[in-house]
Amino acid sequence: SQTVTRDDDGVLTVGGIDVKRLAEEYGTPAYVLDEDDFRSRARAWRTAFGEDADVFYAGKAFLSRAVVRWLNEEGLNLDVCSGGELATALSAGMPAERIAFHGNNKSVAEIRRAVGAGVGRIVLDSFQEIVRVAHIARELGVRQRVQIRVTVGVEAHTHEFIATAHEDQKFGIPLAGGQAAEAVRRALQLDGLEVIGIHSHIGSQIFDMSGFEVAAHRVVGLLKDIRDEHGVELPEIDLGGGLGIAYTSDDDPREPHEIAKALTEIVTRECEAAKLRTPRISVEPGRAIVGPTAFTLYEVGTVKPLDGLRTYVSVDGGMSDNIRTALYDAEYSVSLVSRSSDAEPMLTRVVGKHCESGDIVVKDAFLPGDLAPGDLIAVPATGAYCRSMASNYNHVLRPPVVAVKDGQARVIVRRETEEDLLRLDVG
Ligand code: LLP
Repeated sequence: SQTVTRDDDGVLTVGGIDVKRLAEEYGTPAYVLDEDDFRSRARAWRTAFGEDADVFYAGKAFLSRAVVRWLNEEGLNLDVCSGGELATALSAGMPAERIAFHGNNKSVAEIRRAVGAGVGRIVLDSFQEIVRVAHIARELGVRQRVQIRVTVGVEAHTHEFIATAHEDQKFGIPLAGGQAAEAVRRALQLDGLEVIGIHSHIGSQIFDMSGFEVAAHRVVGLLKDIRDEHGVELPEIDLGGGLGIAYTSDDDPREPHEIAKALTEIVTRECEAAKLRTPRISVEPGRAIVGPTAFTLYEVGTVKPLDGLRTYVSVDGGMSDNIRTALYDAEYSVSLVSRSSDAEPMLTRVVGKHCESGDIVVKDAFLPGDLAPGDLIAVPATGAYCRSMASNYNHVLRPPVVAVKDGQARVIVRRETEEDLLRLDVG
């Protein structure tokens, strides 16, 4: 976890730098990301899966050029899902063959760019896309390596908006009714495509491995049907991302080596039973790598006690830098980090500065009763899906990402400025 300690005055120190200095130098709010923690989590996934498997970091969780370089150095591959993510990956030197391109509605321009760059795989999400990618590959005179994304019909126990394996939704091609088998049949006939495998992603922030086991079982079942019908054994399967992290002390995440062991065992066992060669496995963790590596540092503004209810603590950011509480009812913790306090804890709600009452960062939190304007508070585990989902709502400027390591801090994504906002406003 993050290299976080407290000094004698109760000031939090991360990566060897105290948060008061960070706030002075870089302002608040800011995402503070611990580079060593990121690298060690990336490495743990890489080591757990070993040489016979691939780990694709899911760039949607958080992507920047520094992150791409760290991943590259740690031997991870990268999953991108838009032209913008692809451009970031390529511009920071990720070799194209280590990039997977995802999405349920890739544009023709995006597909051309990905195929032209030589990405290692495109994950096909619909019957139309099978034909579209095959056509573009032929036009460019290449055979594009592809996986077919299937929905295996399991219920992952997570929030409805981030579950993706049930059939009534936009991603993938259902296994049900032989649709996925039909998709593979068609893709195998197209000479612009080299079908390398099947892809399944069941959802996000999942703790229970049983969903993955059912998914693996069903994907191997499809591999067997393909072998029986076409005499081809597809060499790869990708089981997606989705491993949960601890947002609060109630969450109990699995370690990468446990996950690797469970997934490898189940795939191997199922393949032995079906007399199939064990395919090369890949996974796509995003949150599990970057989520715990950053916290958001805020300055406390207005503190408003409401008699008999709670105290509203307003910070200098809000739903524009963390939409997850409003969108998914996500739970976070928060602590005072710029000093120690012996004051009695008070029940608070940490809210932002936006013009709506749903602008909540932490719904229920105990903070010291003497909390005052100017105090710094930190919300941990904001590395994933916070900066990447940040907005300019109310023309609030998106915060920087400051990476800390060995007592040094450096901005890897700078704070937005009013000039940035006005540059787009050309009317
Ligand atoms: N692979 C695919 C195909 C995905 O769609 C996703 C996430 C991942 C991998 C990475 O999942 P992870 O390991 O990060 O859970 N904005 C939501 C999460 C949306 C996830 C979308 N897809 C949130 O803030 O919880």
